Amino acid sequence: MKLSSFLYFARFGIRTVLFRKKDPVLGTVIVTDRCNLHCKHCSVNNITGVMHPYSQIRGEMQTLYDMGVRILFFCGGETFLWRDGDMTLRDLVIEAKRMGFLIVNTVTNGTFPIDLPEADLILLSLDGDRQRHNEVRGDTYDTIMENVRNATSDNICFYMAINKINRDAVRDVCITARDTKNVRAVSFNFHTPYPDTRDLALTMEEKAQCCEVIKQMMKEKVPVFNLKSAFPYLINNSFPTPCYQCVVIENGKISTCGRCIDVPGLCEECGYFFVAEYTLLFRGNLRIIFEMLTTYLRFI
Ligand SMILES: C[S@@+](CC[C@H](N)C(=O)[O-])C[C@H]1O[C@@H](n2cnc3c(N)ncnc32)[C@H](O)[C@@H]1O
Ligand code: SF4
Ligand code: SF4
Repeated sequence: MKLSSFLYFARFGIRTVLFRKKDPVLGTVIVTDRCNLHCKHCSVNNITGVMHPYSQIRGEMQTLYDMGVRILFFCGGETFLWRDGDMTLRDLVIEAKRMGFLIVNTVTNGTFPIDLPEADLILLSLDGDRQRHNEVRGDTYDTIMENVRNATSDNICFYMAINKINRDAVRDVCITARDTKNVRAVSFNFHTPYPDTRDLALTMEEKAQCCEVIKQMMKEKVPVFNLKSAFPYLINNSFPTPCYQCVVIENGKISTCGRCIDVPGLCEECGYFFVAEYTLLFRGNLRIIFEMLTTYLRFI
């Protein structure tokens, strides 16, 4: 990370903690909800099937920038499906950088060739070893791993949503992240139980077991892009929600924290690690602040 970006975030953090401000710093643009997959745990694919035009997305990026957002994510649906004429996701990432966003990331299912060197991180969903990943995501594991090996840059971070199906495969994903070319780290979430996927939710004991495995992997020098100080809060769902420093924009509609804020009762069962990490950070949790500094400087 550049020194100027670091200083921007440090100033933002200090002001937010001291004055209990609620201004956003992390924003996500949903470029389309269209997707080539139908994963078992996902409730947000192919609802409208609309591919939002470049002019609209550019306007949404400007809206977020004007609100103070400096960490930008592109998400979907499947982001690599996005097209407007000749323009692709890569044009969106380049434009976001040109506009002044300090960190620009994208989330993808990894089933398309990966040529996105301008992104700071490509969060690429890998949901287990071959067997369990394919059980969640269809027969895609081999294609994804081939795309990862052939990627044109080493900015990939595996992104695993841990649920009832794949909870015993956390170690496999860690080892694969450590040993695969072009992969810089691995990051986790627990399944967030939308009404149609409640059966995939983990118990508190299962979450605790997963966190033990992740901690052990961290000890063994696997590059995990999460904060272990947040684990107890994630296991008990005792972190504050929603995250006021995070916003999502989809087709002009801005939601605080996530689109899921509209699902009654879901925040109390939230499994997104970034929510725990950011809300605890901005409440001034000293352990989280220290771990966040070392972790972000290591991976971005
Ligand atoms: C909705 S997908 C969109 C980007 C891309 N299609 C992908 O699969 O990475 C973004 C991330 O959310 C995760 N996800 C989907 N539903 C979830 C849920 N109910 N709880 C936790 N993570 C979830 C996916 O596994 C994926 O890593
Ligand atoms: S690839 Fe992503 S958006 Fe598509 S169904 Fe799977 S999790 Fe949902
Ligand atoms: S806290 Fe609520 S709105 Fe935020 S990601 Fe979790 S479930 Fe969604």
